[in-house]
Amino acid sequence: MGYNVDSIRKQFPMLDESKKMQGHSLVYLDNSSTTFKPQCVIDAISSYYTDLTANAHRGDYDLLYRMDVEVLNTRKAVARFVNCDVGEVIFTSGTTMSLNQVAYGYGLKHLSKGDEIVISEEEHASNVLPWFEVAKKTGAIIKFVPLTESGIITETNLRSVMSNKTKIVSLAHVGNVLGNIHNVSMMARVAHEYGAIISIDGAQSVPHLKTDFKSWDIDFLSFSAHKMCGPTGIGCLIGKANLLTEMDPLISGGGNNVDFHIDGSVEYLSAPAKFEAGTQNLSGIVGFRTAIEFIESIGIDNIHKHDREMAEYAMEKMKNIDDIIIYNKEAKNGIITFNRKDVFAQDEATLLNSKGIAVRSGQHCAKILDNFLKCKATVRISTYLYTNKADIDRFVDVLLEGGDILDAYFSN
Ligand SMILES: Cc1ncc(COP(=O)(O)O)c(C=O)c1O
Repeated sequence: MGYNVDSIRKQFPMLDESKKMQGHSLVYLDNSSTTFKPQCVIDAISSYYTDLTANAHRGDYDLLYRMDVEVLNTRKAVARFVNCDVGEVIFTSGTTMSLNQVAYGYGLKHLSKGDEIVISEEEHASNVLPWFEVAKKTGAIIKFVPLTESGIITETNLRSVMSNKTKIVSLAHVGNVLGNIHNVSMMARVAHEYGAIISIDGAQSVPHLKTDFKSWDIDFLSFSAHKMCGPTGIGCLIGKANLLTEMDPLISGGGNNVDFHIDGSVEYLSAPAKFEAGTQNLSGIVGFRTAIEFIESIGIDNIHKHDREMAEYAMEKMKNIDDIIIYNKEAKNGIITFNRKDVFAQDEATLLNSKGIAVRSGQHCAKILDNFLKCKATVRISTYLYTNKADIDRFVDVLLEGGDILDAYFSN
């Protein structure tokens, strides 16, 4: 059976006709920010509170043991989904926490004055600021891979900033503004050739594209459940087992140690427990597994194909609107970033909001990309597995009529 977007949509309460914004039925095109949740995920989260409430890894009674099994089963589902070993899956609160764990737990320990960290100008704040902080503390230097005119990281450009001082390469697989799909295996190969490790920000890729941690040979991978139909406050850091052994935990406390003594000595558990101090987001972990199973039931390749179809459908229509400037005509992952000539991005987003259409405007947390874009703020639409042509048509209709509305507004 083909991709049935209508039956997929029926599973999302937020897509029910009763949900209105400014009196219009809702068109949600801000999926790079967060996605809606299907009923099965909502039910799974609720099942933790109605049937399963207990801590995990902290007791010897059946109910708690059931939670241990739930946590293990989600770990197994993640490992299957991104192709890594079960012991390489660490639960975190999301991509931001995972990237901070790599920067502070690995970077701070392994970097010295003059060492180099390679990132790009398109990186999200969560893949920039932890490195800025770690660079300040260690004296390491940040280098930026030059992007091509369409925002791609080529092998030549990556090599141009690599040296024997490069210790860490930290890049997004898919950027959240330009939406380009970078070649992760190439980036890993180049990083390793120079003896550096590579950390991949998978926030915008894992929900949309087949991920293969093992065959791409990457060292760390970070992503969030809420961008893939799962709950907020839960995500993962995947790390190669040998690096997890060397890395220090960013957070310490209950559940991550074997023993500690009055003289200050501590014996930590091995990974993943070493990195999971404190009671975990257990309802989130249960919901996350259901989200992965939901995505698997549709098929990640089908989702990617659908995203592309929707973005291409939108792109074709947008290209023909005179005053619309598109910044990423080549992108292949459901993200389109644009502006209307001489209109501030937030004004455009406000206009769309007034017609029930949710988009993102501003800098999208990628605040050093303005040099590349040659403008401070943009408007972004981003699709997901439930986006349909009617959503795009409603959006494009506003773009088409919006010029007149904005002219009238500004001439008053
Ligand atoms: C590329 C990228 N990295 C990191 C993040 C941060 O993700 P989270 O807020 O789930 O930690 C985002 C969120 O939009 C993102 O798009």
